[in-house]
Amino acid sequence: MRLTVLFAILLAGAPLAFGGAAEGKDLFAKRCKACHGPEGQGNPGMAKMLKVTFVHLGSKEVQSKSDADLKKIITEGTGKMKPVTGLSAAQVSDVIAFVRTLKP
Ligand code: HEC
Repeated sequence: MRLTVLFAILLAGAPLAFGGAAEGKDLFAKRCKACHGPEGQGNPGMAKMLKVTFVHLGSKEVQSKSDADLKKIITEGTGKMKPVTGLSAAQVSDVIAFVRTLKP
């Protein structure tokens, strides 16, 4: 009986895990893409304007950061990146889930 319940929870949780990155992709397109590009490679026009070199978000350098580090970057900003405001904690997690799918 207990196993059945556990199984049901696992099954219910699986689509949610996918939902995170899918939802995050949407949020990324709205809140990050203008600067970081659709695949996290960086928008060259924006790089020129902000006088920065974007590190690919799929690079080892970024992927080696913890979720907590990424959360901090998103909500508090870093260097020339201003904090991204108006995202709920769940939305920040979703965006991070999407960033984890990026490959250089
Ligand atoms: C207005 C432009 C802009 C937006 C919008 C933006 N960023 Fe950034 N981001 C930057 C810039 C510029 C840097 C480099 C900061 C520096 O080093 O000075 C950066 C750096 C980062 C880094 C650290 C990369 C490194 O150098 O290690 C991460 C991770 C990141 N951004 C994620 C995000 C995510 C996720 C979003 C959307 C929720 C987002 N950014 C939205 C401009 C932006």
